[in-house]
Amino acid sequence: MMMVCILAIVGGCAKDNQLICDDSQPLYDQADFPIGVAIALAPFDNNPTYRAVATQQFNRFTAENAFKAESLQPIQGLFQWEAADALVNFSAGTNKSIHGHTLIWHQQLPAWITTFEGDAEAWEQLFKTHIQTVINHFKGRVAAWDVVNEAFNEDGTLRNSIWRQKLGDGYIARAFVYAAEADPDALLFYNDFNLEFNITKRNSVLAHLDNLRKRGIKIDGIGLQMHVGIDYPEPSQIAEALRHVVSHSFRVHISELDVSVNLLGRAIEPTAALFERQADYLGKIVLHYKQIPKQYQYGITFWGVSDRDSWIPAYFGREDYPLLYDESYLPKPAYCKLVDVL
Ligand code: G3I
Repeated sequence: MMMVCILAIVGGCAKDNQLICDDSQPLYDQADFPIGVAIALAPFDNNPTYRAVATQQFNRFTAENAFKAESLQPIQGLFQWEAADALVNFSAGTNKSIHGHTLIWHQQLPAWITTFEGDAEAWEQLFKTHIQTVINHFKGRVAAWDVVNEAFNEDGTLRNSIWRQKLGDGYIARAFVYAAEADPDALLFYNDFNLEFNITKRNSVLAHLDNLRKRGIKIDGIGLQMHVGIDYPEPSQIAEALRHVVSHSFRVHISELDVSVNLLGRAIEPTAALFERQADYLGKIVLHYKQIPKQYQYGITFWGVSDRDSWIPAYFGREDYPLLYDESYLPKPAYCKLVDVL
């Protein structure tokens, strides 16, 4: 995709003029850590532009939904690999790594799990079987996993998810043990949101994971999802979060990055000035990330390719433009800024 640095009107949309820039050189070529993107299979399979941008720009793919339990094991014991395999095979052929998201989460569970009736042993069995069957299937092809996702509340207590209710507080520890048993070479992550500014929650997560490590349990890193907005949090809070995680010797994955321009869901005007603010904000985050020692930089993953594909408008019912590409798959100022700071 060739684009010259010009002031252009983005065809077909009601946006203001936008400064666009050359995106002919892949982002990942310009970074010294992996640059990832969440892949939604519907546009990946059906929209050649989406697939082309995703393939050209990024060198790590996270399936946005295709690796979740409801997708991989919709019926007990009947694993459906086709869609995920297709993505993994495509990735192998195009030199992308795959970040496996996610093994244990309280959302996007198949009904057979949420309605499962069994004793503690039966629950343990289904929990272990899911983790180990999925990891074994992708062994050698998926080098890293979000083993547990979003297990903490905002006040730092453990979320009373179905997993905690049925398996007790020790389920996080056991998820990591089962994962490491299945693939001792895989990198294992804990992933959560708001850790970039909620110090109470971050302290709890770090204390919990430190404790597991003291017991000899392998945990390699923490995913800071980073669903942030131009007005909150302050980039300095993010810098502090990065330093804090690194001070506990965990690799850091900025795992689901998007920068909302409308956190409060107001009526907004998507002006050039707004997108410049978004670009500046993103630039600061990336510069802070570059400050952490190399060995802790697992990479930065954007939660979608273009504003057209973002989960945010549908999920929150608000107008928003949180990603690097606009709805016509043209690079936005945030993209240009990223190139500047990488
Ligand atoms: O699978 C159905 C499909 O059968 C149906 O036709 C379609 C119609 O709307 O809906 C499909 O399910 C949707 C699913 O994504 C797959 O596309 C759900 O409605 C939708 O709610 C679901 O949203 C996903 C969300 O997780 C669920 O909580 C988003 O795409 C995905 O971006 C989002 O990702 C999460 C991360 O995994 C964890 N961190 C937070 C992040 C944002 O919520």
